[in-house]
Amino acid sequence: MKLSRRDFLKFGGVTLIAVAGGTVLRALDQGVFSVGQGAAYEPWTNWRDAPTPTERIVAAGILASNPHNSQPWIFRITDSTIDLFAEPERQIGVIDPFLREMYVGLGCAVENMMLAAEAEGLSPTLGLMPDPTDETHAAHLELIHSSPHPSKLYSVIPNRHTDRGAYDTARSIAPKIFEEIEVLIAEANLHLFWYKDEAARAQFSEVAIESVEALIADEQQSMDSHAWWRQDWDQLQETADGITLDAQALGPITPIAKIFPDLSRQQNDAAFVKNVREIMLPTAAAFGILAVRDGNNSTQRLNCGRAWERIHLWGTTQGLAMQPLNQMCERVDREIQLGIEPVIGNAVRALVNDDSWHAIMPFRLGYPTQKTNLSPRRGLGKVIA
Ligand SMILES: Cc1cc2nc3c(=O)[nH]c(=O)nc-3n(C[C@H](O)[C@H](O)[C@H](O)COP(=O)(O)O)c2cc1C
Repeated sequence: MKLSRRDFLKFGGVTLIAVAGGTVLRALDQGVFSVGQGAAYEPWTNWRDAPTPTERIVAAGILASNPHNSQPWIFRITDSTIDLFAEPERQIGVIDPFLREMYVGLGCAVENMMLAAEAEGLSPTLGLMPDPTDETHAAHLELIHSSPHPSKLYSVIPNRHTDRGAYDTARSIAPKIFEEIEVLIAEANLHLFWYKDEAARAQFSEVAIESVEALIADEQQSMDSHAWWRQDWDQLQETADGITLDAQALGPITPIAKIFPDLSRQQNDAAFVKNVREIMLPTAAAFGILAVRDGNNSTQRLNCGRAWERIHLWGTTQGLAMQPLNQMCERVDREIQLGIEPVIGNAVRALVNDDSWHAIMPFRLGYPTQKTNLSPRRGLGKVIA
């Protein structure tokens, strides 16, 4: 059959419309026009709407920073108590073989709940790891009526987001910011190490990139990490957890990335290494590592989480961008688990340079260059037992 020019244009036009239509459908399907919307994101806006004070306190808790957005928590509440439990089935596999990150994340939730309890006029008494026979029982809050004290940190709970984008390399951090962050650490057995000048930042970056490369070369770690990657919009809305494209701070390429077919685990890993090497590390104004006396002690890990959440909230009040960078600790734990040579273990020890401290929460900070997007959250109906 011979096609005339007119037929050809008609056929081409139909094809173009079909392709464009398909792209728009895919864009709709993948939530390109619905960033931060849907049931999975509602906890960020309705966190003060629950009918009872204890529910509202839990609603603040679930907005906390947590590993891989696994939200490894479950809550039991009465009118005057909140009990926080770990959800072992939400543990992130060999990324966190000794549950270090899980307890740090639970500590972050504790911090938000303490701030929310004060704001509600329910003065909290806190017991960490209150039941020696139950390792999953992370915290018990006893709430006593007092006058409400809504703090600045409380008010920014829904504005705190992990910023994985480029930070402003033209803006350094004033010395008094570092001092004010140090003052925020009230917990015993917790110390903050800084990596501020060029040489220290380079040393930190070298260990960080070596760790990321080792992690993606470890197939089980790569797979366990990928299990929390949520590219499908429906799945994301359903599970309301995990790491999303919207939260990668990819800027204008995000909609394109969402329309394209899902990335394979290997493609994702390659993109991650590239981002760490070219964006996250070189644009950081400084790095920090929170360290505890005993990295296996759950109470100390919880306290580290409380401090991290407080630091991140305070940073939010100051317009600072922050992001944990945990791959070095994930590799330290993995080397111990596998009984292999402690390559990253030795590098992290050298970084901390004080064997009486155990690094458990490395992070970067700086000033943002773009708006961060929300991460999904499981709402109260899914987390209150
Ligand atoms: C213990 C712990 C480890 C984390 N490690 C990383 C990390 O290595 N890289 C990263 O980008 N975010 C890391 N995060 C941040 C979480 O991924 C983030 O809090 C979660 O996805 C929810 O997003 P949000 O902080 O924006 O609410 C970590 C958080 C915690 C508490």
